[in-house]
Amino acid sequence: MKIRFGILTISDRSAMNGRPDASGPVLEEAILEEGWLVEHTKILPDDQQSVTDLLIEWSDRDDLDVILTSGGTGFSPRDVTPEATTAVIERPAPGLTEAMRSASLQITPHAMLSRAAAGIRGRTLIINLPGSPKAALENLVVIVPVLPHAVQLIREEPGAEAGHRQ
Ligand code: MTE
Repeated sequence: MKIRFGILTISDRSAMNGRPDASGPVLEEAILEEGWLVEHTKILPDDQQSVTDLLIEWSDRDDLDVILTSGGTGFSPRDVTPEATTAVIERPAPGLTEAMRSASLQITPHAMLSRAAAGIRGRTLIINLPGSPKAALENLVVIVPVLPHAVQLIREEPGAEAGHRQ
C-alpha cells in the first residue's frame, strides 16, 4: 500500500539558526524503509500561524495521507505544535497519542511532558511527534503497524473492513 507522507519539522533553532534538522531525515528514512512515499518535507519555526497555514495547505491541496510533525510538543512557551494541530483537525484521534505516550512511558517518565495531538482533516491524518530524533522514532514505531488500516479507513477503500478481523 502506497501511503503518501509529509514530514514537517518544527524548530526555531533549525529554521532560524541553521542547526541541521536531525529528526526529519530520520523519520523520512523510516518511512521509506516501510516502502511508503515522502512527498514533502519542510522546516518551520515554532510559530503557530505558520504551522497552521502549512498543515491546511498540505492537507487540503496536496492530498497527503499522513502528515508527521516533529517538535514543539513540550511545555516551553514556544511549544505550540499541539495548538496549531488542534486548530486544523476536524476529528481527533486520541488513541494514537495515548498509545505513543503509554509506550514512551516504558522508556522515560519525560513522556508525560509530551502534549502531542493527532487527528483527521479531510482525508489527511496529522500526527505530532516529539522533536529529538530518538524520541520521534520511538514514537513513530508505535503507530506504524496501524497506519495502513487507518489510511484505508480514511480513504474508504473497499476491503478496509477486513482489517477489523486482525
Ligand atoms: N518520548 C520518547 N519515546 N522518548 C523521549 O525521549 N522525550 C520527551 C517526550 N516524549 C521523549 C518522549 C520529552 S523530554 C519531551 S519535553 C516531550 O516528548 C516533548 O518533546 P518536544 O518538545 O521535542 O516535542
